[in-house]
Amino acid sequence: MQEFPKGFLWGGATAANQLEGAYDVDGKGLSIADALPGGPERFNIVDQPDFDWKIDPDKYTYPNHEGIDFYHHFKEDIALFAEMGFKCYRFSIAWSRIFPNGDDAEPNEKGLQFYDQVIDECLKYHIEPVITISHYELPLNLVTTYGGWKNRQLIGFFENYAKVVLTRYASRVKYWMTFNEINSALHFPVMSQGLVSSNGGNVMQNRYQAWHNQFVAGAKAVAIAHELRSDLQIGCMLLYATTYAYDANPVNQLAALKENQAMNHFCGDVQVRGKYPLYTESLMNHYGFSFKDLTVTADDLAVLAANPVDYIGFSYYMSTAVNVTDKSLGTANGNLVGGVKNPFLESSDWGWQIDPTGLRIALNELANRYNKPVFVVENGLGAKDVVAADGSIHDDYRINYLREHIEAIRGAISDGVPVMGYTPWGCIDLVSASTGQMSKRYGFIYVDLDDEGHGTGKRSKKDSFTWYQHVIETNGDTK
Ligand code: BG6
Repeated sequence: MQEFPKGFLWGGATAANQLEGAYDVDGKGLSIADALPGGPERFNIVDQPDFDWKIDPDKYTYPNHEGIDFYHHFKEDIALFAEMGFKCYRFSIAWSRIFPNGDDAEPNEKGLQFYDQVIDECLKYHIEPVITISHYELPLNLVTTYGGWKNRQLIGFFENYAKVVLTRYASRVKYWMTFNEINSALHFPVMSQGLVSSNGGNVMQNRYQAWHNQFVAGAKAVAIAHELRSDLQIGCMLLYATTYAYDANPVNQLAALKENQAMNHFCGDVQVRGKYPLYTESLMNHYGFSFKDLTVTADDLAVLAANPVDYIGFSYYMSTAVNVTDKSLGTANGNLVGGVKNPFLESSDWGWQIDPTGLRIALNELANRYNKPVFVVENGLGAKDVVAADGSIHDDYRINYLREHIEAIRGAISDGVPVMGYTPWGCIDLVSASTGQMSKRYGFIYVDLDDEGHGTGKRSKKDSFTWYQHVIETNGDTK
């Protein structure tokens, strides 16, 4: 049987806004996630033309405000990660903890000290920190005052922020990523770009302008990182949903190819290859504008060309299928990236189509497209867990999901793919990004909190905790 490489980075992944809580503590400013109401309608609510981004506790709940209070429990939580044997822990820095308004002249020292402690706690257990610089937590002021990432000024604000955190932590942290799921803005631009429909203009042009600004900002972060430490590894982070044509009809095959370009490949092509791909103009024409309509300088293109990322980090939860010839096929409900229901696949309780083989395909496609290492930095099953009378949590459904995906990674390694590591999402239960629910749980560690934030916050081990501990201990035995 194919073995996992020595030094494979087994671990888990989280994001600041979904677990830290302490949303207004020690000088932290509001982030876009802090203004998102709880519940499955959160993206629709903020996309209404009259939504004013004001916190209104009489009208909405705000689960991200408390998260699971990792801010005050990180020592206990990292000790549990260490007990599972984590080799790495992927987490994000909350930008608004460091620059409360995003455009501040000086960083907030208390925010920096918090991540000093988190990093040191990881290193104490020989856990390699893997840091996402921006994970769906843009300082809210950059949305309300500047209009989000379509505004070029954000390049400078991000560069400043990235410089501060990279300078502070680079000697202790080797692995970094710039923007979480940068391509997700194709379907939900509010989280990563701070854009809403009421911005006006051509909404797709706004998204591509925002992407361009993010590409340049990200490339500048890559330059800073490499200057600070030559062996530092900084990657992009893509939402990869393997996309099939529904059938052998060439029309559907072509539609799937176009969907792959738009969703799975465009951002990576720029960030990894350092230049816009050949299909750029055709893609933009499809959305009613031209590359010439974007503000892009010669200097921007030089920065992109000089600073490609070192590896491809990506999340993988589901695959999707494209059919443009038969309108009677239902859409895959809940599947954030659209597409039709694939008759060969089961779905999670939230409608995400479960497809381990799709992960092996994704790993092969990405590694061979770019000839760079790949890192599965998110994967997992959002499910409702039941606590038995004796306190145990039997999450065999989660174990089965993860086992099949780890076996798919093993398969990809046997195909020759250089896989750096695997960090399942929400290794400890946290607030869901798309639905703002606690009940959509991913963790090996259960946290006693419900969707309204009621509960003790107590941590307990699910069956998957012991199972994953064994996987790591044996470097890949999933039995
Ligand atoms: C990814 C994000 O989209 O998927 C995470 O990077 C998110 O922030 C995860 O939590 C799972 O999605 P959800 O909506 O189930 O939390």
